[in-house]
Amino acid sequence: MDEKMVTLTIDGQKVTVPAYYTILEAARSANIRIPTLCFLKDINEIGACRMCIVEIKGAKALQASCVYPVADGIEVSTNSPAVRDARKVTLELILSNHDRSCLTCVRNRNCELQQLADELNIKEIPFEGERLTLPIDDLSPAIVRDPNKCILCRRCISTCRNVQEIGVIGATERGFNTMVEPPFKMSINQVPCINCGQCIEACPVGALREKDDTERVWTALADPELHVVVQTAPAVRAA
Ligand code: FES
Repeated sequence: MDEKMVTLTIDGQKVTVPAYYTILEAARSANIRIPTLCFLKDINEIGACRMCIVEIKGAKALQASCVYPVADGIEVSTNSPAVRDARKVTLELILSNHDRSCLTCVRNRNCELQQLADELNIKEIPFEGERLTLPIDDLSPAIVRDPNKCILCRRCISTCRNVQEIGVIGATERGFNTMVEPPFKMSINQVPCINCGQCIEACPVGALREKDDTERVWTALADPELHVVVQTAPAVRAA
């Protein structure tokens, strides 16, 4: 059976796509870039971050293109002044409660949030208010979770649950206190995490990272008792 197609206009360009597409998919099919943060195709399509907002002629409000279905004849603007202003304010609000030690962050120059701030020409944050300072969970042998860098995009939650079928992290609390963490304030080390690292891959910022054990290894190697083990190991094997 033939797929139903619709034709819409995006930034003045006629685009014909299957009727089940979202505006984001339609734009991408026409090589029109719309920025995203929370979107992960087929994994996390929840319209949480609002970075992908677009203006639709006749609509009362800006809409999140990653979850807004296409329709025949609609006219979409992805880069109007209203869209650019709203994206910038949204990003400034996200950054207002974000750990800004970017230079020492493991994701420096490889961070989607940083790239978007560059793109939107954000030089300073006009919203200085209450900020959460939360403990870092580094008890897992493989994964460090730094909630001070989390932007609540939930990509890690969806990946852990829908891709890996584990589901050891979720959103807790409400509003300003919302956190992405294991249940009951447990450490990642206390839940059945399999240390696959897929949550780290999904994270757009430095809120989840691989544990760097370099320091611990060097400290252990400096331990005279460990030296005995290392030095005697070949002899044991030879025997
Ligand atoms: Fe669409 Fe986050 S990418 S709302």
